[in-house]
Amino acid sequence: MPLLPESTQRIRAIAARYPHGQSALIPALYVAQGEQGSLSDETLAEIAGLLGMTPVDVKAVASFYTMFYRQPGGKFVFQVCGTLSCALCGAEELIRHMEEKLGIRAGQSTPDGRFKLEVVECLGACGSGPVMLLGDRYHHNLTPELVDSIIDELKTAPLPEGLPAPQVESAGKPER
Ligand code: FES
Repeated sequence: MPLLPESTQRIRAIAARYPHGQSALIPALYVAQGEQGSLSDETLAEIAGLLGMTPVDVKAVASFYTMFYRQPGGKFVFQVCGTLSCALCGAEELIRHMEEKLGIRAGQSTPDGRFKLEVVECLGACGSGPVMLLGDRYHHNLTPELVDSIIDELKTAPLPEGLPAPQVESAGKPER
């Protein structure tokens, strides 16, 4: 599915700020993902054309970063850190709890496509684990009770067509 004209325009406007189109790649991927929910090969090729890059270079970046989704599924994607510091703070138990709460295993989406649960490598917030990324927002010092409240809130949150999923704040804050 081709990008909407508004998205194409936004990507061109972002690219115009830089001397080289590839400098705009990350924000361009966000624009496309915000519109389409995930990044298909067709979309990546379109972005490559807009930025004067090769499709393979665009695909390499989109595949490297866990915040970009190559497959559709999950309006709300929970990316829970499973690396050592978070694991020592209870990430594994938290992931099991979330699997039970959502009725899916890590790596899967709920049948209605609303939620996806992923276990990812270090999110760079090791001092406040367990940590989860939801959209572009970090949730720190998570407990089963905190993730329950986040999931429950998102169960009824509206999902406007064609827009990125709304976010909620958790009570957990990074430690200083
Ligand atoms: S180990 Fe979890 S954020 Fe670094």
